Amino acid sequence: MTPDPAPSMHQLLAFYLEAGVDCALSDEPVSRMTDEVAAAAVESRPSRPAAALQPALEPAAPPPHIAAPAPDAAIISAREAAAPAPSLEALRALMESFDGCALKATATRLVFADGNPQARIMFVGEAPGREEDIEGLPFVGRSGKLLDRMLAAIGLNRGNAYIANVIPWRPPGNRTPTPQETQICLPFIRRQIELVDPDVLVTLGNPSTQTLLATRDGIMRTRGRWFDFDTGSRKIRALPTFHPAYLLRQPSYKRLAWQDLRAIATALEDGSEATAPSS
Ligand code: URA
Repeated sequence: MTPDPAPSMHQLLAFYLEAGVDCALSDEPVSRMTDEVAAAAVESRPSRPAAALQPALEPAAPPPHIAAPAPDAAIISAREAAAPAPSLEALRALMESFDGCALKATATRLVFADGNPQARIMFVGEAPGREEDIEGLPFVGRSGKLLDRMLAAIGLNRGNAYIANVIPWRPPGNRTPTPQETQICLPFIRRQIELVDPDVLVTLGNPSTQTLLATRDGIMRTRGRWFDFDTGSRKIRALPTFHPAYLLRQPSYKRLAWQDLRAIATALEDGSEATAPSS
């Protein structure tokens, strides 16, 4: 039997892309097979003196991003760093230099915000995707285009609205951020909201809603319901609605999203508590 020819570089890259591998984690390849073999060797031969195993076990030097501090320490240092930031510029600068979140090492750049910091309304999504990571701006991909249309439907745009994410670095391959990563990033987005100090905060989708509004209810229950986002010095009215990426997959929910948008417009018009119809 003739063996299959080795795949070309192009075919291999196409395979990786299809499997969701769309970024490199380090400049040098690391053989996980070798690591596993070494780990298995340790487990299966506990009685051998460690020195005798040394050559086979020599692990490859860990890529630099593995050196991020333990999550608890990182959460504390994020809190200590974010809370006193006197301005959005200062907050951005300290996030640029913060090394406590491992996502920073795999992301291309920080995705801080887009829009007008003086806006009366702020939208917060979950985390940047591939396009956002490349451009350094939130919501510029497909779901961003839909968000722009949603904003335009109630007279908003990036000149009179402010947009950010709970997580400012793209998770590799767009995986879901871990709870620790979310907790590490939370002090930064909380401070960002305090500094923008909008009249209305809109959380886009479940992760942003549950993280910022401290609820365990799912988006089907929370959307269209007013919450308070407590900054410590004041309460900002907050309305959860569907994430535009979800609306792209489930267009039938656009009808409910439209009701939420109307409630947002009313809240901005009269500055008073507005209630979105719930169905
Ligand atoms: N999804 C998000 O939650 N945020 C972005 O910036 C883009 C997609």
